[in-house]
Amino acid sequence: MDDDLADLRRRDLHRRRRLVRLREGSHVRLGGRDFVSFASNDYLGLAGDPRLAREAARMARRYGCGAGASPLVSGYLAPHRALERDLARWEGVESALVFSSGFAANLALAGTLAGEGDAIFSDALNHASLIDGCRLARARTHIYRHADVNHLHDLLVRLGRSARRRVIVSESVFSMDGDWAPLPELADLARRHDCSLLIDEAHATGVFGANGRGLAELLAFRSQANDFPITVGTLSKALGAQGGFVAGTRRLIEWLVNRARPYIFSTALAPPVAGAARRAVAIVAAEPERRARLLARAEFLRERLRASGYPASGSRSQIVPVVVGSARAALELSQRLRRRGLLVPAIRPPTVPDGAARLRISLTAMHSEEDVLRLVAALADR
Ligand SMILES: Cc1ncc(COP(=O)(O)O)c(C=O)c1O
Repeated sequence: MDDDLADLRRRDLHRRRRLVRLREGSHVRLGGRDFVSFASNDYLGLAGDPRLAREAARMARRYGCGAGASPLVSGYLAPHRALERDLARWEGVESALVFSSGFAANLALAGTLAGEGDAIFSDALNHASLIDGCRLARARTHIYRHADVNHLHDLLVRLGRSARRRVIVSESVFSMDGDWAPLPELADLARRHDCSLLIDEAHATGVFGANGRGLAELLAFRSQANDFPITVGTLSKALGAQGGFVAGTRRLIEWLVNRARPYIFSTALAPPVAGAARRAVAIVAAEPERRARLLARAEFLRERLRASGYPASGSRSQIVPVVVGSARAALELSQRLRRRGLLVPAIRPPTVPDGAARLRISLTAMHSEEDVLRLVAALADR
């Protein structure tokens, strides 16, 4: 362990946690100092919404703070069922299943959809939870170049035919680049090559689409058949609570309940959290102005960055990377911003590829234009 930690330090890859003492809107207090934070996935500002807190308190009083058991034993409670019904209605699908985290939902789905003799085709920039799900699946995993449908097509033709089943796995909005997967093209390839399509909407849930369902809703491509694609979402980011969910057919959900080990062998989501998440779903559907404000801020930030000479990134969302290259350069830039009261995390390998360390600017609906201008001015002052 000592050798490993020393090696991480030597390569500027050592990580440590910072204690946040207070959070209020887009501001946080660390070590006695206030910062404007560009480091949160609470994209719509719902984590601190009193309506969620009230519902959480009501559920805690009625059902307790913990579910007490896995859902198949005795942990499946009324708030879970109500949340799943609301999620299914919101997503416009037959059924939904709630997990204790988005990570668990991805492990479960990727790890269960494919098995021995099957083939998974996975985007090179997929999140660790999808990668680990693929590892658990015991299927062959083929990595296609990021968002490259020609490469995916090539792999499907060369390596897909001999597989018993085929699964394509992708995020919709990529967590570290803020760009979009080519969803309509992925759906088309999936149809032509008889694949299941798993789309992780973690960073798009609540942010895109008229009802906030995600990028698939915005691109209106889910209408072909009601089990296509299979969607994963998280309750922990724009929904301001905690947990993950899978949305799909009744058959898929029944199968996961019987087969998905991260669901079967883990305590159900805490009832207050289920209550809070349910309230958040209702707010997200009813208050589209939150996501409109968020996306307008993101556009404003990209414009300002371009105007001050930062290369336009491929971001098309509330996540805007400033790629600097080495881990050391990313750390130094992040520290420079900290000295100016701005919290922007340096993201280093293995979270991003070698040589692509960056600042990950994460906007929320709570940021003002002044916050954005302050950040751009600090970046521009080299
Ligand atoms: C793309 C993606 N999927 C899934 C997850 C996991 O979600 P959760 O934080 O709810 O476990 C994350 C979180 O970092 C993510 O970025």
